[in-house]
Amino acid sequence: AATAGCSNNKPLKVGVENNFRPFTYTEGGEIKGFEVELWQAIAEKANIEYELVPMEAVELNEAVTSGEVDLAIAGLTVNKARKDNFAFSEPYFETGLVILTTADNTDIQDKKGLAGKVVATQTGSSAYTYAGGIEGLKEVRGYADISEAYNQLKNKKVDAVIFDERSVHHFMQTTGDGKVKMVGEVLNKESYGVMATKESRYIGRINQAITAVGNDGTYESLYAKWMGG
Ligand code: ARG
Repeated sequence: AATAGCSNNKPLKVGVENNFRPFTYTEGGEIKGFEVELWQAIAEKANIEYELVPMEAVELNEAVTSGEVDLAIAGLTVNKARKDNFAFSEPYFETGLVILTTADNTDIQDKKGLAGKVVATQTGSSAYTYAGGIEGLKEVRGYADISEAYNQLKNKKVDAVIFDERSVHHFMQTTGDGKVKMVGEVLNKESYGVMATKESRYIGRINQAITAVGNDGTYESLYAKWMGG
């Protein structure tokens, strides 16, 4: 068994997501993003050797449960339902869910405006659960890849997307092409944590390292780099 402070012979497998920009995504055969670099800094402080395993978001829970990966860092919202089944680190990112609609939409200005509307989001995400609980919604459509939900909105096949604020913001500023706008207030405050099984021996070391990258300015500079200051 590994002792805290010593590196392990076998690198830990860390699950990340293929397409959750700007946090973790694959591009040109490379795995990039805020969380990829933040994790690198955390792992250095915690003296953890690792390799990244990119996958679809819907595969992450099972990958952690089955032991295919030891940890997951992929914009995973810490909530009660997940805490019943998994252990989480201290939160390292504060965010929330927001509504995105088409630029010319005048009906949807907040959550109430979603009555009778079709909303797209990522299957299995915290937004998917949240949208399912909004009264009067016509339908929630789930997509494994959030880009597909964004494209459905851009092409006016759905009325709105509900998803994590930074992902929505990133889409708006890149491929959104001025065709979409964020409306209303943050619907649900959420924070992201590193996820592991309840048996994991790494959460304590990871928490210490999260504090350390906050104290030495690393977090701040990665935030500025990836979130635009
Ligand atoms: N924060 C949301 C959630 O935890 C969406 C995360 C998107 N990325 C992911 N790997 N599911 O459900």
